[in-house]
Amino acid sequence: MLRSSLPLLLLAAVAGSPLGAGDRPDVLVADFEGDTYPAGWTTTGTAFGKGPAKGTLPGQMPVSGFLGKGLVNSFLGGDAATGTLTSPEFKVGRKYINFLVGGGKHPGKTCVNLLVGGKVVRTATGPNDKAGGSEQLDWHTWDVAEFEGKAAVVQVVDDATGGWGHINVDQIVQSDAKKQAEPATRAFVVEQPYLHLPVKTGAPGRRVKFVIGADTVREFDIELDTSGKPDFWAFADVSAFKGRKLVVETILPADAKALDALKLAADVPDAEKLYREKHRPLFHFTSRFGWLNDPNGLVYHDKEWHLFYQHNPFGVNWGNMHWGHAVSPDLFRWKELGIGLYPKKYDDWAFSGSAVVDAGNTSGWGTKEKPPLVLAYTSTGRGECIAFSTDNGRTWTEYDRNPVVKHAGRDPKLIWYAPGKHWVMAVYDEFQGKQWIAFHTSPDLRTWTFASRIEGFFECPDLFEQQVYPDQKKTKWALYAADGKYAVGEFDGKAFKPDAKEKHQLWYGRFYAAQTFDNVPPVAEGPWGPPPRRIQIGWANGISFPGMPFNQQMTVPVQLWLHDTADGVRLTADPVAELRTLREKEPAADVRPPGTVVPGRMTMADDLDAFDAEVTIDLKQAAGVTLDLRGTKLVYDAAKGTLTCKDVTAPLAIRNGRLSLRVLVDRGSVEVFAGGGLVAMSVAAVPDEKNRKLDLVPQGGEVAVGRAAVYRMKSAWEK
Ligand code: FRU
Repeated sequence: MLRSSLPLLLLAAVAGSPLGAGDRPDVLVADFEGDTYPAGWTTTGTAFGKGPAKGTLPGQMPVSGFLGKGLVNSFLGGDAATGTLTSPEFKVGRKYINFLVGGGKHPGKTCVNLLVGGKVVRTATGPNDKAGGSEQLDWHTWDVAEFEGKAAVVQVVDDATGGWGHINVDQIVQSDAKKQAEPATRAFVVEQPYLHLPVKTGAPGRRVKFVIGADTVREFDIELDTSGKPDFWAFADVSAFKGRKLVVETILPADAKALDALKLAADVPDAEKLYREKHRPLFHFTSRFGWLNDPNGLVYHDKEWHLFYQHNPFGVNWGNMHWGHAVSPDLFRWKELGIGLYPKKYDDWAFSGSAVVDAGNTSGWGTKEKPPLVLAYTSTGRGECIAFSTDNGRTWTEYDRNPVVKHAGRDPKLIWYAPGKHWVMAVYDEFQGKQWIAFHTSPDLRTWTFASRIEGFFECPDLFEQQVYPDQKKTKWALYAADGKYAVGEFDGKAFKPDAKEKHQLWYGRFYAAQTFDNVPPVAEGPWGPPPRRIQIGWANGISFPGMPFNQQMTVPVQLWLHDTADGVRLTADPVAELRTLREKEPAADVRPPGTVVPGRMTMADDLDAFDAEVTIDLKQAAGVTLDLRGTKLVYDAAKGTLTCKDVTAPLAIRNGRLSLRVLVDRGSVEVFAGGGLVAMSVAAVPDEKNRKLDLVPQGGEVAVGRAAVYRMKSAWEK
């Protein structure tokens, strides 16, 4: 039966498809906006239910890219469900049929078909046939000119029950204009160092290639803006290709203005606004643009602290893993040097790892006088890899026998084991279905031998030996992985023996994948605290900044100590002393005479942006106390013995009713150090713009302030 309402449908021109000269208006076949399928559509099986889905179904990754509120989504009942959805006959009346499709890539099994005369004449699938992937729908176009005037049927088929055994479809439209993405290129002669690329977060991810001659020199995914109104601009440093012809290749919807907006420039985008953005942290490391996660390759060398980090230079979400690189004279005033380590190729990302100074030139890649920097990282395509630098980390050369360790695992941490005069690689290892840290050893950073493994640790290990304070001679080893929970024990260069079964916890909240620096200078070189210094930086996972072109921050660098406590040997953390150099000279609130009694809410300081406060409170008989940090509440509950800030709670026992806190408030975070450094907290909190105060609020009784020193912080980025 030919659909009789065709003339009516002809009126349903689709917005957003500008007509070209001579184009007839679009004809909607179905947009799946109703609660039931459109009249005449029929189903078999269970996968398609009674009507369109309203987006993502239970147990499904977030579905995006569909238009309006509804779509066809055969994940109803999970991947196992099967069925078909068939349209009534309609007359082919335009050159093309455009539709959005996503889900499984199983030809004939998860597909949309066009049938003419009962025969499948066109077919399309979603993009996914392996674990991972995306539930995003994208445009597909069938050229149907040859069927014009004929009766046709669209059929959506889900006949697959395994991984990606479902299909998503939306917005089926007859049109004289193609919607499907097509190859687009633009060529540049590289006369300027930076290529700016417009980004719209949430736009379909596009695969972009930089091609020089016959070689693809870079390849990455980017949510390329095609609306002319980008959220912000990403950039690629193309100075390595100076004077060459660089072709940018991608695939874009036919109606998108290809790559017109890309431009070469002398500087990075918005250079004049950089580090002055509304929510830019003043003293925490963030990338100037894009996403960051784990700190990598932390090493001190030649008066510079090196911070490498997991980095997506092309968007504010995780992806395209590069190593970003920044250097600093003092752990706060960072200078970003751009990309430290590029992925070898698309899908062979540079995952986490570490760096050391090969002081004895065991590798032979430098000299004793000018020792090389050596790093180990996970190449997701190859395994654990080694690279070296003889120019202070500015450029890196891959070891030509990479990978040096091949296994299921990642995140190699290198250390020098002095007693055995050999290197150790502690690396996350998946073995017999369990999670371990494996230890490999090497005399020269080139050849590695498996030594042992210890179960119960996940990704991103760190391992170090430290003096046990206050004993000058006693040392212990600490081992932790990404969650920061650490074991104390002995390490003989090959195997780690924990003192106890349980791990201990120092950090609470937004803290992950931390590392400590290699080659930290003995204290004689600087004015900061007694030797030896063990300095740690973590990824403050989940700390983000509304509307900013950068995402996530590092935790404040802390100095770690091992202490003999009544409970055994434990780690403590203090923000490194260098932080004080960012305090304004005069405190915003003065030290009060000890014992100042506070019966009710008291403002300790006003006019605050980012600040660093040291507060000691005598709780007397009070039930607790709240520090109101520009609207973010930090609460000590005496009865429970807990310290809570937003979603983060840490146990905190205090002695003689005295609560001693160091509180660091920045544009996106609150960090708290308490219990003599036994408790460290990292909290995601954007301060209330209108509230500039630090208030003290006693709970259930008066308290007395022992000491309150509150310092406004200067920006680490100020020249
Ligand atoms: C931890 C981690 C690492 C991996 C890296 C990838 O956050 O998953 O295991 O190397 O991030 O970015």
